[in-house]
Amino acid sequence: MIGMHHHRSFCKPFASGSILPLIGAKFRYLEPSHDDVGRFYDQIDEAIRLEAEDPIEYAITLRYLQRYIPDPVTVADVGVGGGQYSELLARRGCRLHLADVSQRLLDAAVARLDAAGLGSQIESQRRASATDLSHVPTASCDVVLLLGPLYHLLTTSERRQAIGEAARLLRHDGLIFAAGINVLTYLRNILADDPEEFGWRRDFFLGQLFIDGNIALQPKQPAAMHLTTVAELRAELGTAFEEITLVGVESFASKIVGRRAYLHATPASRLCCKKF
Ligand SMILES: C[S@@+](CC[C@H](N)C(=O)[O-])C[C@H]1O[C@@H](n2cnc3c(N)ncnc32)[C@H](O)[C@@H]1O
Repeated sequence: MIGMHHHRSFCKPFASGSILPLIGAKFRYLEPSHDDVGRFYDQIDEAIRLEAEDPIEYAITLRYLQRYIPDPVTVADVGVGGGQYSELLARRGCRLHLADVSQRLLDAAVARLDAAGLGSQIESQRRASATDLSHVPTASCDVVLLLGPLYHLLTTSERRQAIGEAARLLRHDGLIFAAGINVLTYLRNILADDPEEFGWRRDFFLGQLFIDGNIALQPKQPAAMHLTTVAELRAELGTAFEEITLVGVESFASKIVGRRAYLHATPASRLCCKKF
């Protein structure tokens, strides 16, 4: 009975159309696998990873954003994480569209901008996947940061969809910064953490890892991360973009802390490209 009553009272505003658009705007449907990645990131300390663990990746990426992005422009930060790069760009007067599959990280990025007095520069913030950014108008951005999604999209067609969405958002000559994690980063992590694993997981390395590059985020879980090669990253972006520069942001020496940090793979290469 309680359920029935609840149901009836809920139906009324739906029928009048006054509540449905609001619900639709906040809780948009995500693909189950993208939802899972978002929930994974909801639970880890990604918001402070750059400062706490990856200062070299952070410094190199900042250098290239400073070098290539003119100010003040409109930027879509897709897979915004803790919002460090958005904050830098907002300080230079840029306007921002923030998107991430993790609600917790999206909130952290907004909080970071608010705390710096830059919240008014946020044009939109949305829990959304890089494969569907339909809330951002076509040809409305000068720069897209895709520093995260590509290495969580498992199929070529999903990665192409995300790259297509970035191209749709950009004006002619707009810039995309896209990150991939090199398949060799994973091998480096294994060698640093447990060299013997290299031997007993030979079939995995020679098989799956080098065939589709898809691995699980945690043991015994389905694959949720895609490791790439420079050739693959170039080929996928090359459908819509002309390469400006390819940058490696990691080396054996780049982690700030030791063994434990190597359990998490982090971006190994970035491409900065221009839309043609
Ligand atoms: C390792 S973090 C990188 C964060 C930040 N961009 C950086 O470069 O430090 C990866 C980010 O991408 C987000 N992400 C993963 N898959 C995504 C997708 N399909 N669409 C949007 N964001 C995604 C994650 O939630 C996470 O915030």
